[in-house]
Amino acid sequence: MSARRARLGVLVSGGGSNLQALLDAAGQADYPAEVACVLSNVPTAFALERARKAGVRAEVVDHKGFGSKADFEAAVLGVLADAGVEWVCLAGFMRLVSADFLKRFPGRVLNIHPSLLPAFPGLHAQKQALERGVKVAGCTVHYVDAGTDTGPIIAQAAVPVLPEDDEASLSARILAEEHRLYPLAVRLAVTGAVTLDGGRTKVDARVTGDGMALRSPGAPK
Ligand code: GRF
Repeated sequence: MSARRARLGVLVSGGGSNLQALLDAAGQADYPAEVACVLSNVPTAFALERARKAGVRAEVVDHKGFGSKADFEAAVLGVLADAGVEWVCLAGFMRLVSADFLKRFPGRVLNIHPSLLPAFPGLHAQKQALERGVKVAGCTVHYVDAGTDTGPIIAQAAVPVLPEDDEASLSARILAEEHRLYPLAVRLAVTGAVTLDGGRTKVDARVTGDGMALRSPGAPK
């Protein structure tokens, strides 16, 4: 009998390439999570097509249709509860989630951000990195807290910034790493290999090699 898989709700607003990475991972029989529901606040998001193609429930909750953030989030929470979601993955979801929302999924909301946090939180992280002239950029998966991109870090991947890079080329290099990192970080979180320890995370020392929460040139194997 196969082991029970954690039920993910993936919240999106756009193209959904990170959603695709999670759908692809969940397509493997030994992956410890499945995508139970994809929810977009943008009705035209291509991510919805990806969900439907994978046979996954796809829902739209358009924030524009609600008078308050609380009402919008109540509708989102209703869909997630109906789909039996246990973990929430933000994947290019362009709305901030409130402290009340987080209380419904304590320590079970993850986000991916295209910088090596705590550097360059917020919008246009890749542009911020180029403007500061950093030589190493990357991406981070973290637990979500009430701040913007401030929660405890689960996993990071680094990429070089090349002299000829512009926002598009750097974003593409980071995105390729995001697609590897998010499934890896979700695996660590839902299996309990990474746990919250105050404001930080603790990774089980038995996690090694490709399963490690660090992807970087020169990282230990
Ligand atoms: C990614 O760069 C992610 O890190 C950021 O938004 C982008 C979403 O891309 N939060 P996609 O919709 O997953 O292709």
